[in-house]
Amino acid sequence: MAEEPQVIYVLRIIFEIIWMILRLNLEIIKALFRVVVPQDRKDVTGDIVLVTGAGHGMGREIATRFGKLGAKVVCVDINSKGNEETVSLIKKNKGEAYAYICDVTDRAAVMQLAEKVEKDVGQVDILVNNAGIMPCKPVLKQTEKEIRATMEINVNGNLWMIQAFLPAMLDRNSGHIVAMSSMAGKMGLRNLVPYCGSKYAVRGIMESLAVELHEDPRNTNGIKFTTICPYIVNTGLCHNPRIRFEAVMKTVDPGDAADQIVDAVLREYHEITIPSDMYYSNKVFNLFPPSAGMILTDFIGTGLDPHE
Ligand SMILES: NC(=O)c1ccc[n+]([C@@H]2O[C@H](COP(=O)([O-])OP(=O)(O)OC[C@H]3O[C@@H](n4cnc5c(N)ncnc54)[C@H](O)[C@@H]3O)[C@@H](O)[C@H]2O)c1
Repeated sequence: MAEEPQVIYVLRIIFEIIWMILRLNLEIIKALFRVVVPQDRKDVTGDIVLVTGAGHGMGREIATRFGKLGAKVVCVDINSKGNEETVSLIKKNKGEAYAYICDVTDRAAVMQLAEKVEKDVGQVDILVNNAGIMPCKPVLKQTEKEIRATMEINVNGNLWMIQAFLPAMLDRNSGHIVAMSSMAGKMGLRNLVPYCGSKYAVRGIMESLAVELHEDPRNTNGIKFTTICPYIVNTGLCHNPRIRFEAVMKTVDPGDAADQIVDAVLREYHEITIPSDMYYSNKVFNLFPPSAGMILTDFIGTGLDPHE
């Protein structure tokens, strides 16, 4: 094939740069517009929503909210009692819900779960990867078992669920994957070294998955991603929160957190923090050099004290 003349090559690159700048500006204007006028909430009536860790805390609250919105809720947990209670709560409110016991760290069990759910209920429209644990103590006091479990549940559990449920979403070019990261996935916190690592990993998984699908030759724009980064939610997971300025950094009720999470899913937001103002304060914080960041961390004096 004849080589492209130099002048054509240069003109083509100039055209590509102009085209890219126009598209970048359009996306920035669209994003600014969405800050003022949020995207409408999508209708999930009849959709199949699967929530892991549905037997307690935020998972339960998210599941019951989707039940009230008319979705068919697939509740997944390792804890049968809690999971059944969530299903009963949804049914009591005239919702449709199904209970499945599954350990998200067991890849074979997760693959079987996907088959069973598809056969019994149908193809999952919204996957909420919520199950997680949080051993809280200095890193040298964390046992091998605790560290392995943190990574297995919080990180690998997400990956197995994605491997099990993404293929059907790709076939239909439709679906939504929601991941529970944390503010501990956006900043380092004492007593949470493995946990912070696992929650940074969750954000990495979600960001790279979005890039991978964007570059996939198939049409994948019907698949959406939402990452949730709560700070401290009163579910019992954080036993010893230490908060210096209560008025500014309040802990959040699980119901309020779930309202914000479901709203973010319905509006197809890319990432939210709970409380929402932490989204921007964290971005400003990240502009500081690490040593200045430490001074700010000392002043704010907020975090978690160790517990068994
Ligand atoms: N509570 C917080 O302050 C907070 C803050 C930020 C992020 N998060 C994250 O939000 C998610 C939910 O937190 P929560 O406070 O509601 O937790 P929780 O402890 O109240 O509930 C977690 C649920 O996950 C289930 N689970 C644990 N291991 C499992 C496994 N291997 N397979 C299947 N299910 C399993 C538990 O049985 C439980 O029902 C977690 O990923 C957590 O890391 C929580």
